[in-house]
Amino acid sequence: MSKIQLKNVFKKYANSEGYSVKDFNLDIEEKEFIVLVGPSGCGKSTTLRMIAGLEEISEGDFIIEGQRVNDKEPKDRDIAMVFQNYALYPHMSVFENMSFGLKIRKLPKKEIKEKVEHAAEILGLKDLLNRKPKELSGGQRQRVALGRAIVRNASIFLMDEPLSNLDAKLRVQMRAEISKLHRQLGTTVIYVTHDQTEAMTMATRIVIMKDGVIQQIGTPSEVYHLPANTFVASFIGSPGMNLIEGIRNEKGYFEMAEQAQYRLSSEQNEAIAQNENKPFLLGVRPENISVVSEPTSIQGVVDLVEVNGPDMLLHVIVNNQTILVKSKTDEKVKVDQSVFLEVDDTTVHLFDKETGQRL
Ligand SMILES: Nc1ncnc2c1ncn2[C@@H]1O[C@H](COP(=O)(O)OP(=O)(O)OP(=O)(O)O)[C@@H](O)[C@H]1O
Ligand SMILES: [Mg+2]
Repeated sequence: MSKIQLKNVFKKYANSEGYSVKDFNLDIEEKEFIVLVGPSGCGKSTTLRMIAGLEEISEGDFIIEGQRVNDKEPKDRDIAMVFQNYALYPHMSVFENMSFGLKIRKLPKKEIKEKVEHAAEILGLKDLLNRKPKELSGGQRQRVALGRAIVRNASIFLMDEPLSNLDAKLRVQMRAEISKLHRQLGTTVIYVTHDQTEAMTMATRIVIMKDGVIQQIGTPSEVYHLPANTFVASFIGSPGMNLIEGIRNEKGYFEMAEQAQYRLSSEQNEAIAQNENKPFLLGVRPENISVVSEPTSIQGVVDLVEVNGPDMLLHVIVNNQTILVKSKTDEKVKVDQSVFLEVDDTTVHLFDKETGQRL
């Protein structure tokens, strides 16, 4: 079991101008399930590959149990990695695929058999050990790839988008299986994805990155309820948070337009007063706004209705801005209809419009 620390880690590829990862700092406790999430190119794989030892760390320290291990070979790191394209050997059986790494390490045959059978048991692959990869479903192949990592008994698991080749249904299923596996094995997992739902459902803590820079580290609940900036606010959630432009009027209301005003709390008024003259954004999640029958101080027009089974997502135009509203499906709400919106006061956020930081 290991405590892992990344201290002021930078990565600059030899052939590129800027840094791909900038001043990355993270302490990982034993048995955590850390998810690195962010848009394409933000530096997730680079970070993971530096941890694995597949990529050199340009600056900073990578520490396991108090020891700086920047220069340790990948094979000496007690780390197992599962890649996006899990690349099974097509001519080998499931058993051979899973045992390959152990064979190379010259483990005794009996021990190899025990380890593979144990992993196959955990992964539900026992009856498939003699099959070839082409005789397996996508999810089963994915499990073989996980099996290859499990048999190594590593204390740290690295996974880079391991589910991205699977269809939506299998992804949900494998997501649950990986979470269970994590609990069962009691290992530390560092998992990379660009899918915020995966991050929110699997992680004990999420690291949100953009342009090589960590934007926020927190539990799923923290990053959802207290996003540090507008990037995190709009990245987390499906869809992300509404970021609404307006001004604070003399009555202490947030005003998008005359017929679209929201009463700010005294705390919010104070936060804005401290940032006098700075344009700001009001952040509120689609699930914290509802359409109500009684008139309210926010009026808009329904532009689009997206029904998804029990839930619907409304696009409501309020003074040229589109506000997303997520609620239970209501057949009565129609396009072009004028509606009144109500905001759940406890869930409103304020952000500095220029820096994007939470006020
Ligand atoms: N071998 C390399 N040489 C030069 N630049 C690289 C190399 N690998 C990655 N980069 C650059 O580093 C940045 C981060 O890339 P990285 O692969 O870590 O992103 P990512 O977050 O994993 O993205 P994705 O979600 O698309 O996999 C990108 O700008 C990328 O172009
Ligand atoms: Mg990547």
